[in-house]
Amino acid sequence: MTDVAMPLPLPADRPDSGLEFPFREKEFRFIAELMHETTGIKLNPSKMNMVYARLVRRLRELQLPSFAAYCRLLREPEGEEEMSQLINALTTNLTRFFREPHHFDHIRQVVVPALMARVNRSRRLRIWSAGCSSGEEPYSIAMVLAEQMRELDRWDARILATDLDSTMLATGSAGLYPFSALADIGPARLARHFAKSGNHLLVNDQLRQLISFKQLNLVNPWPMKGPFDAIFCRNVMIYFDQPTKAGLIARFTELLAPGGWLYVGHSESLLEPGSGLVSAGRTVYRKAT
Ligand SMILES: C[S@@+](CC[C@H](N)C(=O)[O-])C[C@H]1O[C@@H](n2cnc3c(N)ncnc32)[C@H](O)[C@@H]1O
Repeated sequence: MTDVAMPLPLPADRPDSGLEFPFREKEFRFIAELMHETTGIKLNPSKMNMVYARLVRRLRELQLPSFAAYCRLLREPEGEEEMSQLINALTTNLTRFFREPHHFDHIRQVVVPALMARVNRSRRLRIWSAGCSSGEEPYSIAMVLAEQMRELDRWDARILATDLDSTMLATGSAGLYPFSALADIGPARLARHFAKSGNHLLVNDQLRQLISFKQLNLVNPWPMKGPFDAIFCRNVMIYFDQPTKAGLIARFTELLAPGGWLYVGHSESLLEPGSGLVSAGRTVYRKAT
């Protein structure tokens, strides 16, 4: 590969002067490799423009003259702190409440009745939202549980919500969302689970007490032992390469209770022979009992 600059978007405020910061393919490759090693996220060369656009603010804030200087910083011991800024800038955090609603119907229609009918009458319930972004996914799960399980407060129920991106986790922990984020939620649900707080809506205590937000990089060792009754890992593995994805699925399967469910995103169907999972609906898999 050559070292020449690739065509990149020109900053709108300086349309005739080329790039605000020089960005060559070798710097892109360094950043892409660092991201892959650290997070499993694969950035192919078509993402060069996106990387420029997302990091340009960091260069301005750090008052660096070029991407070469930014890469030098990342290589140095002082660059360690910048790593989390880099990761936060390059993760894609798109999410919303009740995204892919069939999964929440599945919890209501299949998972909750199965848990309530458990022969051993165990009232332990564990769900993991892996790659929870800003919290909409775990709060949606919590709403369904609170609505469907009348005696939920007599259960030992916990939802673990993890992500790599510290900014997203802070939003999730705060539980404060603009009205626009809740535009599709019906008035009864809103009234039940949220309270007005200035220009925002605040998730109520019942839901917040169910959820623990924690930072966790999925490609590193996990401190939890499980077992989980259900794991959500939706729209996260699309950013990983095949070996990373296969490794994660094996680890999720190990942490699921027998008969537990794994939910993945709409474009992530994953049935592989010998995985220990069987299809249990659209992008839902079940561990053998
Ligand atoms: C597109 S969001 C999906 C959010 C939610 N699961 C949904 O489907 O709406 C992907 C999330 O995965 C997180 N992520 C990416 N790589 C990760 C990793 N290695 N470990 C943990 N989280 C990661 C990102 O920070 C981002 O918040």
